[in-house]
Amino acid sequence: MLIVYFCQVTISFMKQKPCYILGIESSCDDTAAAILNHNKVLSNCISNQKIHMQYGGVVPELASRAHQLNIIPVVDQALKKANITQNQLSAIAYTQGPGLLGSLLVGNSFAKSMAMGLNIPLIGVNHMQAHILVHFINEKKSLIPGFPFIGVNVSGGHTQILIVRNYFDMEIIGTTIDDAIGEAFDKCGKKMGLDYPSGPIIDKLSKTGNPKKFLFPVPKVKGLDVSYSGCKTAFVNFIEKEKYKNSKFINENINDLCSSIQSTLIKIITQKIEMAVQKTGINCVAIGGGVSANSKIRDFLNEKRKISGWKIHIPSIEYTTDNAAMIGIAGYYNWKNKNFSDFSSVANSRMSF
Ligand code: KG4
Ligand code: ZN
Repeated sequence: MLIVYFCQVTISFMKQKPCYILGIESSCDDTAAAILNHNKVLSNCISNQKIHMQYGGVVPELASRAHQLNIIPVVDQALKKANITQNQLSAIAYTQGPGLLGSLLVGNSFAKSMAMGLNIPLIGVNHMQAHILVHFINEKKSLIPGFPFIGVNVSGGHTQILIVRNYFDMEIIGTTIDDAIGEAFDKCGKKMGLDYPSGPIIDKLSKTGNPKKFLFPVPKVKGLDVSYSGCKTAFVNFIEKEKYKNSKFINENINDLCSSIQSTLIKIITQKIEMAVQKTGINCVAIGGGVSANSKIRDFLNEKRKISGWKIHIPSIEYTTDNAAMIGIAGYYNWKNKNFSDFSSVANSRMSF
């Protein structure tokens, strides 16, 4: 009896023992830091780099310089918000790749030095896996996706359809053969004179536009792969032609243009998500990445939940675009598995699963 009581006390003590993970994200143009206690987010801080707006896209050299300026204040802010000190940290997780090499190097060298100084484990995280693992933050067991599920990564650099068998067992079953979906949103936006990143602006302007006013091609690509460059080029050529006839064409049609191109870009991926569900027989779908903030892709998935009974997992807006909480949650599951990185590990701009 006494032994049972002793075990129960030990188990509950172990359960409550804090595990503080610092997550650091620096793969592109956002410097971000978060503190998690197990799977709970205590702080999630981000410093967006506005400097790229004037160039209409991310300038890699400027991004790495800005990361160097931002990383210490952002980590400091995350610790303060979480109300802990660096000495309480259990491990440091950082984005090892994929991403811009100069940007990744800043996170890599900072995380390594800090983990070495504090004598705690270092965990290199795959950015794309982290976009999917965001669904395991904070949530009750009934709300998280059950394995296996279909993961869909839609971001500025990637477009992937995956079978997710476990936290770290993810198989890419479809991907873009050229541009990423977010890149297509941003380039079409640039052609219309919209600020970078244009995805959220196109989404907003689309709300009062007609999605059928202008028709753009949906490419025929084999299997679960997608292509975005043909549709983007058709859009750019169309704008050039119409502007030649009427210099005010963009201004006079901005809402219909946004709505029409958005509808096409989203259709390209949603028809492949439908195909993935059919092919695999898995009807649980979880999306991630910046474009998962898009209202049209969210409407499509919610409709599938209602009409076809799919189980759908859509992240809250703060966890769609790049953030450090997603690196922290991936770090937490690595920490549980004692899956630590060597201090000689390097940033990997083309890191795969
Ligand atoms: O995941 P993310 O922050 O960075 C990468 O890992 O690439 O994704 C950024 C991308 C940008 O291309 C941005 O235009 C797009 O996500 N995005 C959107 C929306 N919000 C962000 N695209 C369409 N609709 C949105 N609401
Ligand atoms: Zn991302």
